[in-house]
Amino acid sequence: MASPNDMNDISRDRVVIFDTTLRDGEQSPGASMTLDEKLEVAQLLDEMGVDIIEAGFPIASEGDFESVSAIAKLVKNASVAGLARAANKDIDRAGEALKGAVNPRIHTFISTSPLHMKYKLQKEPEEVLALVTSQVLRARNHVENVEWSAEDGTRTEMDFLCRCVEAAIKAGATTINIPDTVGYTVPDEYEHIFRSVIERVPNSDKAIFSVHCHNDLGLAVANTLAGVRGGARQIECTINGIGERAGNAALEEVVMALRTRSDVLPYSNRIETTMLMRASKLVSAVTSFPVQYNKAIVGRNAFAHESGIHQDGMLKNAQTYEIMTPESVGVQKTSLVMGKHSGRHAFKEKLKDLGYTLGDNALEDAFKRFKDLADRKKIVYDEDIEALVDDEIGHAGERIKVVDLAVVAGTKGPQSAELTLDIEGQQVSHQSTGNGPVDAIFNCIHALVPHTAVLELYQVHAVTEGTDAQAEVSVRLHEDGRSVTAKGADPDTLVASARAYIAALNKLMVKRRRSRPEEIEPGVRAITP
Ligand code: KIV
Ligand code: ZN
Repeated sequence: MASPNDMNDISRDRVVIFDTTLRDGEQSPGASMTLDEKLEVAQLLDEMGVDIIEAGFPIASEGDFESVSAIAKLVKNASVAGLARAANKDIDRAGEALKGAVNPRIHTFISTSPLHMKYKLQKEPEEVLALVTSQVLRARNHVENVEWSAEDGTRTEMDFLCRCVEAAIKAGATTINIPDTVGYTVPDEYEHIFRSVIERVPNSDKAIFSVHCHNDLGLAVANTLAGVRGGARQIECTINGIGERAGNAALEEVVMALRTRSDVLPYSNRIETTMLMRASKLVSAVTSFPVQYNKAIVGRNAFAHESGIHQDGMLKNAQTYEIMTPESVGVQKTSLVMGKHSGRHAFKEKLKDLGYTLGDNALEDAFKRFKDLADRKKIVYDEDIEALVDDEIGHAGERIKVVDLAVVAGTKGPQSAELTLDIEGQQVSHQSTGNGPVDAIFNCIHALVPHTAVLELYQVHAVTEGTDAQAEVSVRLHEDGRSVTAKGADPDTLVASARAYIAALNKLMVKRRRSRPEEIEPGVRAITP
């Protein structure tokens, strides 16, 4: 592997990826990770091709020291970095923690903006400049690979920034980072800062320049890419963009932007992009930070389409609405989310995927019921469609159909139901009370379709999650040694119950006809002479 410390190994158009999920990312309030979790993340970053893993801030705590030390010993390919302020004890502690690393890097920083120097450091610029030299020299006594950062670099006066950068390189820094610590810069300005510093600092060719962007204005990725255009060749970023306040530039977004728009961003890197989703899931799991649904690259909607027009386009040619393949980031496949905006084309494809082939009329009926369901439910899951089609198939050729149902339920009994059925084209209604709404419905059915079958099983389960989930009701009826089970599905449990019971009666009649064709159904006879 090319050492990021060796300028000769880095081609002019190769950018090195410096991941700081375990340092800047872990600094996000609430994102702390255990040692084992950090080791798991570091291992994955290393496998994914990250060039430098910033493992932590060794002086910050005993735990941070131990994790940097353990990661330094674990990681096989990447350089491991430890952060240090411009203080002897910080630098020595970082040097100690990094012992055993394949390519240890000390990353030391000091504020250079007038605001930070005056209020935070309470130091004169010349004192800060002297510290830049002395601390980089101290870090070089521990390791060859030293990064120096000008904290609040984007709000630093250009002349002073150039003097600091020159001093850091002279003292032995091999990477110079100009962070946008407070997420304040804009792309053109950041690009200009890099161009100016690289042009004005006489020894700038002896270091790699680095971008480090925070996302306070939502510009972290755009600024990062602009910095690269300005001459930076190291990108500091984090998985899922976690980091201080609004976070850092997201690694997955930067890397996929470079890959997808290589025509205008001709910079290569070593990241195995098919591992991006895995990394995102791992970091989200260990930090308990959810990934927003519409997050670029790794959000659950990033490769999901619901609108009928988009789904139709996707089925004809995926490039119509996708600029990168889901597989390229480790997502198995595009998902056509079935909802109220989905069209016939996608519905038919979905049925095919689920193993159903319906005739034109059945398809049309199923589509109508699907649209009806989608109007009442945010997402229609595969299981919902299966339940709906199974219900549809079960109802084909049915002699009795549920037309209308109104129920009075709640604590103020008696519960009652008013049910209208279509029995072989004739509509009949009945109102009944019962011991609960389901009992009231079944009493109506008994009154409208008198029968001797006994209810053996009544079972309800939610097909999917959420309060808007479809209820699937199973009913088993037994009569004269024959048993039938049927299901009814609907977001309304009571409608599903009526449907299930009627479906079971329909099945029972089919069974009766099959075994004793001469027999007239006792139930139907009572109302259909
Ligand atoms: O944002 C920042 O300035 C930093 C430095 C420590 C590099 O994280
Ligand atoms: Zn930062």
